[in-house]
Amino acid sequence: MAKSKRQKNMKDKVLKIWPEINWIKNQKLKEKVLQCWVYAIEKSVLSINDLETIPFSLLLKDCKISFINHKRTAVQLSVDIAKRMKENFGEEININMDLLIAGAILIDVGKLIEYDKVKGKLTTSKAGKLLRHPFSGVSIADRFDLPPEVQHIIAYHAKEGELARRSVEAIIVHHADFVSFEPFKA
Ligand SMILES: [Fe+2]
Repeated sequence: MAKSKRQKNMKDKVLKIWPEINWIKNQKLKEKVLQCWVYAIEKSVLSINDLETIPFSLLLKDCKISFINHKRTAVQLSVDIAKRMKENFGEEININMDLLIAGAILIDVGKLIEYDKVKGKLTTSKAGKLLRHPFSGVSIADRFDLPPEVQHIIAYHAKEGELARRSVEAIIVHHADFVSFEPFKA
């Protein structure tokens, strides 16, 4: 298959598992987010179908919630929180929905290269041990020219961001991600 056709095919597949990408209104931003996911899947030991079946964390035992279910829930929650805050706080708060959605969709894109497959079993790759996904995620986002506001959300979404002063979008995404993870921790 020609490269451009293969790319288009992959983009369609990504949009199928990630319908929230269509929530991004700015078409250029949407395209960049899509490119990041296509790139990461192509580099990963995981296939696009794996994302719907593997548990969202290797650290949790017997977790039946899939990677993509967890990630989509965090994006949906981020949007719900942002909408409620805008509704209740009006002009007192300024939240950029496109940047928030793009960042929320990309926080774990670096996880795709955190995995390795050894004798058919999933494990953490050497790169994943040395550079956790907030770092690899920023590197992928920069490759596709995502704005610094989005790179900021990726960089500071997890524990590495605890010393940083997070933007309002990053605060929302961090908490939405946390509440979809913490209840399942042993
Ligand atoms: Fe994460």
